[in-house]
Amino acid sequence: MSDPYVESLRRGFKSRNIPGSCTIVIFGATGDLTHRKLIPALYNLYINNELPNSFRIIGFARRDKNDEIWRSELKQSNIENSRSGHDDKIWGKFSSSLYYFRGNLNSEESFIDLKRTLEEHESSVDDFHNRLFYLSTAPEFFPTVLNHLKSIKLNQPLENGWSRVIVEKPFGTDLSTAQNLNRVVNDTFHEADTYRIDHYLGKETAQNIMVLRFANSIFEPLWRSRFIDHVQITCAEDLGMEGGRGAYYDKAGAARDMVQNHLLQLLSLIAMEPPTDLSANSVRDEKVKVLRTIRRMDDEGVKKNVIRAQYSEGTINGDIVSSYREEDRVNPNSLTESYVAMRLFIDNWRWEGTPFYIRMGKRLPKKATEISLHLKSPPNVLFQKLPGATESNVLTIRIQPDEGMSVRMLSKKPGTTFKIEPVEMNFDYWSSFKKGSPEAYERLLIDAMIGDATLFARRDEVENAWLFIDSIQDAWHTSKTDIPMNFYEAGTWGPTEADDLLAELGHNWRQL
Ligand code: BG6
Repeated sequence: MSDPYVESLRRGFKSRNIPGSCTIVIFGATGDLTHRKLIPALYNLYINNELPNSFRIIGFARRDKNDEIWRSELKQSNIENSRSGHDDKIWGKFSSSLYYFRGNLNSEESFIDLKRTLEEHESSVDDFHNRLFYLSTAPEFFPTVLNHLKSIKLNQPLENGWSRVIVEKPFGTDLSTAQNLNRVVNDTFHEADTYRIDHYLGKETAQNIMVLRFANSIFEPLWRSRFIDHVQITCAEDLGMEGGRGAYYDKAGAARDMVQNHLLQLLSLIAMEPPTDLSANSVRDEKVKVLRTIRRMDDEGVKKNVIRAQYSEGTINGDIVSSYREEDRVNPNSLTESYVAMRLFIDNWRWEGTPFYIRMGKRLPKKATEISLHLKSPPNVLFQKLPGATESNVLTIRIQPDEGMSVRMLSKKPGTTFKIEPVEMNFDYWSSFKKGSPEAYERLLIDAMIGDATLFARRDEVENAWLFIDSIQDAWHTSKTDIPMNFYEAGTWGPTEADDLLAELGHNWRQL
């Protein structure tokens, strides 16, 4: 592994301990996630010298392939998806650790063979006794895989080693399915060895929220309802239902697909109290308290505070795109939302009375995720009557793209007259650090190998988030309350009803 050519290309940004030798078994080896995210992430970790000295990646899938075929297919995906580009020579070295295992998820025989294969690999190197299982299959197979791992004892660590599982999303489709899955997971692996993925937590800017809040004394005193008027979290996507996604999405919808996990995680990081230390449990204890204190809504509350909508035909980047209901594999009478906006309140001491607005939509004008904290205006005694002085201070955290943050403040415009204009103080990662951020999956994979679960969702976080989303789903789909489905033209910023939701309290959505 210490090849001078490889070393010369390594960027030297290694900042953590290298994990112990380990075998990673990916269930769902021929799937999209493995191709687009997992293998390119592992390749980039390899380039940066962050993988263990000895590692093996075993891809488990049903299709008839061998190592050579799998490697060459992965090479193509790596060329297309690796964030730092692709180098044939490095790929050649990296890919010699990739092995294909043809197996059937429903067959215990396959798992017995897998165990034999693992043991053969492990016996070839002295200190090979750590195993990481990555569940990246269709979610209905998660319990099957876990039960097989348990029955052949692959869940049990070898002496001096560990055995861990990473579970991809979606983690359940409601509270009861998530609880059932949690029971199977916890019956197979200890909670401390269970890593539930929420890739938003692996994004550099999401990780920076805690640093911003708790390492800078300038912000923390203001971070409360006394000074913050309201908070907005927006996740906009221009994509629709490409690549056959409609089949999954039409059963999920925006609230389940993005709010239950990514957006509620961002909300927790923004609203949490400082943890007592940086251990995974201390951080997650504080996040789960936020989820527990989000004010619950009855059916009327959902009608008043949550807007759902679907896109109709429209234009994105000059192309005419079809309506949600006309998308491939979407029910033409679908009642699934491709957009959701909501107003939430967190009933605790810090946030009493502060509205938190969350919105997520497909087929909006562009891809952007951003959090903005809008401060209260100063007393209306000095400048408020001057032109331009009505804007309030806004702290914006750009999760993606163009990662960074900015503070909007008012300044006197240079000149002999007294005019006030908003100006921006900006920080962006690229200008400050001259370095791109790692992909979320790089950080998450290495954390799981090191045994740091801080950036993974704990059981109670997942369940509390579902409890909240279930109350919305029930109001929409099972209650007698008539809650309309709204519509917005593809390529616009969502339905006018979502603007009205903010206008009720005198607010506007921030323009992205
Ligand atoms: C996934 C959702 O979890 O996150 C997708 O299932 C969504 O619908 C995606 O497009 C967004 O992730 P990112 O990292 O591209 O913002």
